[in-house]
Amino acid sequence: MLNGKKILLIIGGGIAAFKCHDLIRGLREAGASVTPVLTEAGKEFVTPLSISVLSGSKVYVDLFDLEDETQMGHIELSRNSDLIVIVPATADLLAKMASGLANDLASTLLLATDTEVLAAPAMNVRMWEHLATRRNIQLLKKDGIGFIGPVEGSMACGEFGFGRMAEPEQIITAIKKKLSLGKLKGKHIVVTSGPTHEQIDPVRFIGNLSSGTQGNQIAVALLNEGARVTLISGPTHIELPLGAEIKRVESANEMFKEVKKSLPADAFVMVAAVADWKTKEFSKSKIKKNSDKELVLKLIKNPDILEYVSKLKKDRPKLVVGFAAETDDLIANATEKLNRKKCDWIVANDIRPETNIMGGTENAVILISNAGVEKWERMDKSEVALKLVGLMAKKLNLS
Ligand code: CTP
Repeated sequence: MLNGKKILLIIGGGIAAFKCHDLIRGLREAGASVTPVLTEAGKEFVTPLSISVLSGSKVYVDLFDLEDETQMGHIELSRNSDLIVIVPATADLLAKMASGLANDLASTLLLATDTEVLAAPAMNVRMWEHLATRRNIQLLKKDGIGFIGPVEGSMACGEFGFGRMAEPEQIITAIKKKLSLGKLKGKHIVVTSGPTHEQIDPVRFIGNLSSGTQGNQIAVALLNEGARVTLISGPTHIELPLGAEIKRVESANEMFKEVKKSLPADAFVMVAAVADWKTKEFSKSKIKKNSDKELVLKLIKNPDILEYVSKLKKDRPKLVVGFAAETDDLIANATEKLNRKKCDWIVANDIRPETNIMGGTENAVILISNAGVEKWERMDKSEVALKLVGLMAKKLNLS
């Protein structure tokens, strides 16, 4: 996937530098070659020897290394790659870049280069939120520098918030996207995932057990194939993929609105477990437990988003994929949905509680289309995503 691509990897001075080991390994496994540049501060966190062993390359450290100037000068080094990746991009490195300083090898390369740059920031949350950093990021984005992360989480300094560096696999996905590689480059794909919540009163809602995992995995697999992904997610607790355009929604109606706004697209994957019903009237005050033995809620139907998109006359995505969650007569019910909603494929899954599929990490699906019924063995949801995205890429590149 990254075969023959040359990555110049600048390793900054932060605790997240240790993730470079896995990143280098992953890049080389994907077929890229890695030329590492280690800042003075970076040397405090990882050793030139470990980086050299993992990358199979000389590690560049010093700007005034004359031997290097005869072999490869810093100007050549700065232009001899397909992409420059900064991991971790510390507040100091970003500030140097924003003001055009060139007082060490890394900053000089970044000033001299005509190659695209991708930075993976990592720093303490206060430093990330500081106005100076915000200003620098804004300037650098305007200059065309790409960013991946940081993400929210607990940090080595003991604080919690935004500032933790993206994980190596997320950085590799961003690299592929930046290099516009993959079978789906140039394609826009809209994915919905998670449940929807239909508010009953200020404290209660109708919801379901969907975790959003399968939709998320599909979004990641699409990003890995270079697609531009819009992910419209109902309320979930999982981390949504970096690199996708994320739209968070609560109700089916909000999801419907966002889907319409996100079109046109080359493909549409409706994974979300949309609530079919919502209350006819939302109660502005909390419904009280009165003396009655029963409470009757009047429900009305939500719009069917999949059916709407499948039946679009204008700008219908070339490929519309729906999911079918069934507890009985899986194939018959799912086939009926395919025919009624007029989507191209239905990914059917058996969501009886004993299958542990809804909310679990594995899925056993049956792919139904006009071409027939294909039963897949039970596998991890990420493998289902890979297989589905592979088929989608084939289909989209044929039509
Ligand atoms: N779907 C949708 N809008 C709805 C309900 C469902 O777009 N209001 C989509 C789902 O995202 C899924 C497909 O339709 O891709 C089938 O959803 P499923 O819940 O299996 O079926 P329903 O159409 O809701 O029918 P039923 O509840 O009767 O099984």
